[in-house]
Amino acid sequence: MVQGHLPVLKNEVLQALAIQANGIYIDVTYGRGGHSRAILQQLGACGRLLVMDRDPDAITHARQHMAHDARCTVLHARFSQLTEKLRNRNLEGRVSGILFDLGVSSPQLDTASRGFSFRQHGPLDMRMDCDSGPSAAAWLARVEEKELAATLRNFGEERYARRIAHRIIARRQTQAIETTDDLSALVAAAVPSREPGKHPATRTFQAIRMQVNQELQELEAVLPQTLTWLRPGGRLAVISFHSLEDRLVKRFVREQAKGDPYPPDLPVRFDQLSPALRLLGKPLRARDDELECNPRARSAVLRVAERLPARQDHA
Ligand SMILES: C[S@@+](CC[C@H](N)C(=O)[O-])C[C@H]1O[C@@H](n2cnc3c(N)ncnc32)[C@H](O)[C@@H]1O
Repeated sequence: MVQGHLPVLKNEVLQALAIQANGIYIDVTYGRGGHSRAILQQLGACGRLLVMDRDPDAITHARQHMAHDARCTVLHARFSQLTEKLRNRNLEGRVSGILFDLGVSSPQLDTASRGFSFRQHGPLDMRMDCDSGPSAAAWLARVEEKELAATLRNFGEERYARRIAHRIIARRQTQAIETTDDLSALVAAAVPSREPGKHPATRTFQAIRMQVNQELQELEAVLPQTLTWLRPGGRLAVISFHSLEDRLVKRFVREQAKGDPYPPDLPVRFDQLSPALRLLGKPLRARDDELECNPRARSAVLRVAERLPARQDHA
């Protein structure tokens, strides 16, 4: 049975966003609305919450559970479309907080027909937005061996990337790889040893999912867009589950906290650098009591930054 989704680091997210009753907030990763509901509970009558997701099932859920609330707006979109979707809504520089809770939701993993999980028998799809782009099966049918091995290594940190890629390419000469079972059996047969407590196909499924959904590209495209919409003092909160995601977020915040790039020998004062963000605190991880009831929170890292005023506002 498909269960709901337990929001990770919920209290930490609420604290990070420092919710103001009349503020405008965006939950870019609605999922099943765990964080959205918690934010909404803290908003007053004049507060606003925009919720977004690329997954049509998440959007159906949001329309059923949130859209009746006049403070809520539901948007079906990918991260990279943030600016396009917010344009003409008079929100520029007015948003008090933007939340990203990256990765997949439990219902995505638990719904066999979505093809995200090696634990469920289903078509090898893995698209969060199942109406756009090639499915995992279509991608596997035409990817070159070298690119496949690089994907498994980079996104899955799979030490047997080359062996698995070789096995997949050899198999597809005679038989299409069309189901989650096809792929997980192939991987299990290709790896010579198993990590204790981990299904041998875990890393392969994660890597192919990240590739099919262009997850890092989406994140890289949206982070700079958030600067347009956040008001001075507004908060950006990002929960990552993968070291590559976390690295992207860390690098983005660090770059934006430095301010405008000037040649190193040019004499400029700090107040002329005009940094766009200020990092707030250390990266946060789930506490033991949360991990006990939600093992998914194990790899979650929350980073928080604050939007700084533009230079002319300093004057
Ligand atoms: C971990 S879940 C969010 C769970 C949510 N915070 C909750 O408490 O229910 C991540 C969600 O982000 C969505 N998502 C991931 N990448 C996206 C992207 N590039 N654009 C829009 N939505 C995305 C997924 O479809 C998924 O529903």
